Amino acid sequence: MEQKLFEEKYGVERLNTHCTKWDGLKEKFGEDGLISMWVADMDFKAPEQVIEALQKRIEHGVFGYSLISNSYYDSFINWEEKRHGYKVKKEWIRYTPGVVSGIYWIVNIFTKPGDAILVSMPVYYPFHNSVKENGRKLVHSNLINNNGRYEFDYEDFENKIVENDVKIYILCSPHNPVGRVWKEEELDKIMEICQKHNVLVISDEIHHDLILEGKHIPTAIVNNGKYAKNIITLTAPSKTFNLAGCKNSFVIIENEDILKKFDTYANTVARVSNGNLFGYVAAEAAYTYGEEWLSGAIATIKGNYDYMVKELAEKLPQVKVTPLEGTYLSWLDFNTCLKDEELEEIIQNKCKIAVDYGRWFGEAGKGFIRINLATPRKYVEEAVKNLIDVLNK
Ligand SMILES: Cc1ncc(COP(=O)(O)O)c(C=O)c1O
Repeated sequence: MEQKLFEEKYGVERLNTHCTKWDGLKEKFGEDGLISMWVADMDFKAPEQVIEALQKRIEHGVFGYSLISNSYYDSFINWEEKRHGYKVKKEWIRYTPGVVSGIYWIVNIFTKPGDAILVSMPVYYPFHNSVKENGRKLVHSNLINNNGRYEFDYEDFENKIVENDVKIYILCSPHNPVGRVWKEEELDKIMEICQKHNVLVISDEIHHDLILEGKHIPTAIVNNGKYAKNIITLTAPSKTFNLAGCKNSFVIIENEDILKKFDTYANTVARVSNGNLFGYVAAEAAYTYGEEWLSGAIATIKGNYDYMVKELAEKLPQVKVTPLEGTYLSWLDFNTCLKDEELEEIIQNKCKIAVDYGRWFGEAGKGFIRINLATPRKYVEEAVKNLIDVLNK
């Protein structure tokens, strides 16, 4: 489905629906009325089959204790195999309300206060928080920015593990905010290092269906599954189908010992072993019927991205757009024209755009902003126009 049609069918006004992205502007940025391009959800309705499935469930009128249906598991298992070539077994699947909650649980289960946890910066800031807020030691290895294309620094990565006796590495694949879809050989090298030093890997693959270029390789199937027993995969339908409010995420654990420890924690400390009835209904319908919708969503994101790249290259070439291979979050480099501390004044006060500032993702993000392109073209056009007008003055 092309962008115009997708927008006509699924575009919707979100203001005054208690949505974080638009109704939360004042709280987050101190003012309303900005072009909202920050938090990572979409300004589009979910697939119609999701809405219909929820309506059907609502019409029944009883919302009591519920079992998890086999068809729910099947929909996810089929999706993972068909789309990503990962044959997930039902017994490996667990629930968490969100991917971030999953990270927090795993940090608590598999490390103790003071233990070191590694991340590749710049990276999604709740990764940092999951470490710091649990009293663990945050260790980072910066990605290398090779002319806008980010790569792992393998030597530094291994040194950081050894020097700090790292216990867990939190991988972001695809990587928010730099938009990389990691290649199998890159993941292979990183996993090899983690395995060699007994570092447990959390593989956050929440963006794995949002691929614009390249192919997503689930970390658990890298090198024919060589590292699968050392990996906990986290994913969800929330980014893919815009269902974050449904609070339904997947944990995949192939290693029985790790699974047992996870279950003990989930059933005792967290006391959460299953989720909200509507989350299950929405996820199942999305994975079963959402393919066409998703292709429209990806075409829309790509259309916005291509438009922005072209406009900026012609009219504001000093702002560098990082190639977007995956996610709908574009990473813009202002380092050649602005100081990091000038960004808010220009981006928010002058251009009237609400964004995630690069420094939130770590020192390595200074001078960058992250903008959300899962929005109707009109907002991208307005934001790009404002950037061009203000920065060219
Ligand atoms: C890499 C990554 N992980 C997790 C999340 C959030 O997941 P959840 O809402 O399921 O906690 C996001 C949201 O932007 C993300 O980018």
